[in-house]
Amino acid sequence: MRFFIDTANVDEIREIHEWGVVSGVTTNPSLVAKEGRDFIETLKEILDIVDGPISAEVISIDSKGMIEEGEKLASLSKNIVIKVPMTEEGLKAVKIFSKRKIKTNVTLVFNANQALMAARAGATYVSPFLGRLDDIGYDGMQLIADITEIFAVHDIETEIIAASIRHPLHVTDAAKLGADIATIPHKVFKQLLQHPLTSSGIEKFLADWEGMQK
Ligand code: E4P
Repeated sequence: MRFFIDTANVDEIREIHEWGVVSGVTTNPSLVAKEGRDFIETLKEILDIVDGPISAEVISIDSKGMIEEGEKLASLSKNIVIKVPMTEEGLKAVKIFSKRKIKTNVTLVFNANQALMAARAGATYVSPFLGRLDDIGYDGMQLIADITEIFAVHDIETEIIAASIRHPLHVTDAAKLGADIATIPHKVFKQLLQHPLTSSGIEKFLADWEGMQK
């Protein structure tokens, strides 16, 4: 399973990218709004940091508008992936983007049939939002299990991005189930590194080393 970072904050992207583990970025309108900066400028900065798929979401709700927006965003770089909502209009847009060889990420996927439809329309990626399902008392990880199974049985190439990740266990479980990618917020990336025995182990090694120098 590969790691994308789920943020529009360039400092966060730069920091985690330096660890050498990030192969892509996902943004959404809420994440972009949180930064309060120009969208295109932000995308250009992200493109300079990460040489991999960068998802940029369209705002239009009709396919014509989605295609116009998507074409403009895609003209920034071959690495831009057009993020499209899981709607009838979104599917129509995905089909056209696919014919034009523009990569897409179908977002706001909450059941396996939506993922299958997105794949059949030609989506490059689907993003099941497991944390938001957990938030309302459903089993988000079961959705990842269902989609990975269906895509394997039918030999579907569309990649599965485990999205709406809330904590490290989501990452481990999505990896065990065979999600291709997890898109992870900055805070969770930090948590992934931590273990109390790692911290105390380093302290002990350093203390013993210091002791030997006396
Ligand atoms: C995915 O591409 C979305 O940007 C993201 O994972 C949504 O997560 P949230 O439920 O924390 O907003």
